[in-house]
Amino acid sequence: MTAAIAADLAPNHSTERAKVSTMLTPNFYRTDYAAIDAFDVEPIRAEWNALMKEFSDDKNGDHFDRDEGFGREVTELPPALKEEFIEFLISSCTSEFSGCVLYAELKRRAKNPDMADLFGYMARDESRHANFINQSLKDFGLGVDLGFLKQAKKYKYFAPKFIMYATYLSEKIGYARYITIHRELERHPERRFHPIFKWFEQWCNDEYRHGEAFALMMSAKPELLQGRNKLWIRFFLLAVYATMFVRDHTRPELHKAFGLDPTEYDFQVFRITSECTKQIFPFTLDIDHPAFRAGLERLCRLQTAVDAAKAEGGVMGMVKRAGCAVAAVATFAGLYMLPVVRHAKLPQVRMQAVW
Ligand SMILES: [Fe+2]
Ligand SMILES: [Fe+2]
Repeated sequence: MTAAIAADLAPNHSTERAKVSTMLTPNFYRTDYAAIDAFDVEPIRAEWNALMKEFSDDKNGDHFDRDEGFGREVTELPPALKEEFIEFLISSCTSEFSGCVLYAELKRRAKNPDMADLFGYMARDESRHANFINQSLKDFGLGVDLGFLKQAKKYKYFAPKFIMYATYLSEKIGYARYITIHRELERHPERRFHPIFKWFEQWCNDEYRHGEAFALMMSAKPELLQGRNKLWIRFFLLAVYATMFVRDHTRPELHKAFGLDPTEYDFQVFRITSECTKQIFPFTLDIDHPAFRAGLERLCRLQTAVDAAKAEGGVMGMVKRAGCAVAAVATFAGLYMLPVVRHAKLPQVRMQAVW
């Protein structure tokens, strides 16, 4: 590791990195907790109870225990890969912890026993996930101070329906990301450069189940899926996909180590996520449209230009950044206007994780 990277990755910098809130980093959210607590699951009682039984069975209860494989191998990673891998761990840990904080707060304020059950179970799972990743960061001497992060991170307010769309999608895309990496490394175990990837298969089942809970909740409130809300669904689908695409393209060494082309990896994740979201959303984005791929690639180039302008600094740097921001908004708007792929309503909401 070069001195510059080592300095950049000093222990307190790990928490500082997690604290940064940008378009591309995981954010923390607050919402109208009482409105979510008022959610009535009676229209879906039978499916709800079956899902709660799965949560209480807690099949992953002892999954997040580490074995002796941790703490080895990783020290021998090439510096560029190590830096990207650590950045991936910090970002993933922050994202898991963001879910934990939101769900724990919903549980803490809940008066509705159904919501108390659900958010209690999901906070339990996300806490395990965040702490499991953090253990690997601690192996590098770079653990995130989660208690401090909870206090210091800026929280964004999202109205309850936006929380539903955003958390549903982040759970399903989280599942799709973990399972895609798992499948690739299952085919090529020689590329599994860190033991944490051995945990991904069972881990992704937790994320899948979290997404199922939000799908059921939305199905009990069909107005969330109709009328002008369809415009919001489209917005959130695109925002989540585009953010992931741009962020993943900042990690070339990590994807090279997996043997995955970042574009092909992301499109596989889009495909799985789109199949999942057919359970509840009335359309999917047309990810096979040539303009879709071209628009996302343009967003990546603009991000690279922003980074260069930031490094340049000064007035010219600011002017260039402003220009890139305008171009990014225009590109996003162009992507948003692309036609979507409508599909018939499925006979039931619950779907098996078959990927
Ligand atoms: Fe998680
Ligand atoms: Fe989750």
